[in-house]
Amino acid sequence: MNINLVPMPNEIYTDYKLFFRKNILENSIVEYDSKYSAEEYSITIDEKGAKIKCSGKAGENFAYQTLKQLEFSYSGNIPYLTINDKPAFSYRGFMIDCARHFFSVSNLKKMIDCAALFKLNKFHWHLVDDQGWRMEIKKYPLLTEKGSVRAYSNFGRDYDSNPYEGFYTQNQMKDIVEYCRKKSIDVIPEIEIPGHVSACLHAYPNLSCTDKEIPVRTHAGIFRDILCAGKEEVYEFLFNVLEEMSSIFPCEYVHIGGDEAPKDRWEECPHCSKKMESLNLMNYEQLQGYMTNRIYGYLQKKGKKAIAWNESLRGKNLEKGITVQNWREKNDECSIRASEGGKIIVSDFFHYYLDYPLGMTPLKKTYMYEPIPSALAENMKKNIIGVEAPIWTEFINDIDKMSMMSFPRLAAVAETGWTYKKNKDYKGFTHRLSYVIRMIEKTGLKYTDASQWDPGFFKSVVQVIKFAYNMYNKETLKSRKD
Ligand code: ACM
Ligand code: ZN
Repeated sequence: MNINLVPMPNEIYTDYKLFFRKNILENSIVEYDSKYSAEEYSITIDEKGAKIKCSGKAGENFAYQTLKQLEFSYSGNIPYLTINDKPAFSYRGFMIDCARHFFSVSNLKKMIDCAALFKLNKFHWHLVDDQGWRMEIKKYPLLTEKGSVRAYSNFGRDYDSNPYEGFYTQNQMKDIVEYCRKKSIDVIPEIEIPGHVSACLHAYPNLSCTDKEIPVRTHAGIFRDILCAGKEEVYEFLFNVLEEMSSIFPCEYVHIGGDEAPKDRWEECPHCSKKMESLNLMNYEQLQGYMTNRIYGYLQKKGKKAIAWNESLRGKNLEKGITVQNWREKNDECSIRASEGGKIIVSDFFHYYLDYPLGMTPLKKTYMYEPIPSALAENMKKNIIGVEAPIWTEFINDIDKMSMMSFPRLAAVAETGWTYKKNKDYKGFTHRLSYVIRMIEKTGLKYTDASQWDPGFFKSVVQVIKFAYNMYNKETLKSRKD
């Protein structure tokens, strides 16, 4: 069945014999029925228009996105049809890094509109990193007064000598949460613990192992100064920040980071050594596990769940209840976790990182990627709760580039998240997408043209070389591990 919908509904019937000739959005009715699951919906289109059935707002929103796509492609000529639809995975996310570059509320809303179009339901908001702290926390005003400003920007070949700043007020973040809620999208804020925190340490140097003055970073990289795991004041700080975050973000999940945290400072820190000894921990990875577990314990008391990047598994002491986001697992650590009952979100960097050029990750490669490890036992497959595509922004400093890089690959990830594997097919997808993707223009954003979706060998080589060349500059190379 080829009908221009992305993601492809899981059951659809039409014989293309009879057509509805008026605007379908203006001729639809909704009937709530509690037998439907939260995100499930059905639509029948006949001479009366569209009849949607669902159990509540989420199903209604997804049905509405389906009707919007039908109206766009077949306006005045919509075939009578029946759709019975529900998603393959409960977690279907996109992540935007607003720390390396800042994106206005209005631009974020445009990205959210486009993500909603493809029935994504989680906006993972990367709000803090080495190059900027962008979330207002009233108890710690220096986080934004000092931590949201960097002296200049030196990302790859893009050098800008001007100071760079920006942060979201609590009201602005609440506005985004409300905007997303209306589209059945949960906002998951991320606070990085213990690494990627230079901006935080610039504001409050007492939170590091050394108490030394640290700049908000001006270039990409992995930095050695991280939150001290030995000082009790660090935990108090984190609990207070999380407390304020809970008043802004109602989502049950909070992302607590955990990626790329070098242990150099911890190895030389008397506070960290004392903590290790008092807890009988075997190594510094276990200390990270302890820290993550303690934050998780705090969140649990608030009725929340935690997500952490896969490096948090390295100490082998991570609490079972923490959901792990797999961007770059080592030694099948995430597959093993899933086989033992742990929940996993799949964000394999080589397939799902949208900031990589299409030459490196062509659309087909993203689309065909199978998030459930083949070796996982049938009864453990449910532990892969979904997929998420991150957009890191070291090398993306405006919304046009962000949207060009995100679309169409985000639509491919969305189809994997929604459509059962047995109903997926790449050729049909690109055909349907070539119509639907034009809807992005209506939001004022850009997308990459179909001629570039699978660039072929020579164009790919050129793109990859350009991408790699652009990543490095003298500052980055000199201080890969400041
Ligand atoms: C990551 O890309 N460092 C999660
Ligand atoms: Zn320390």
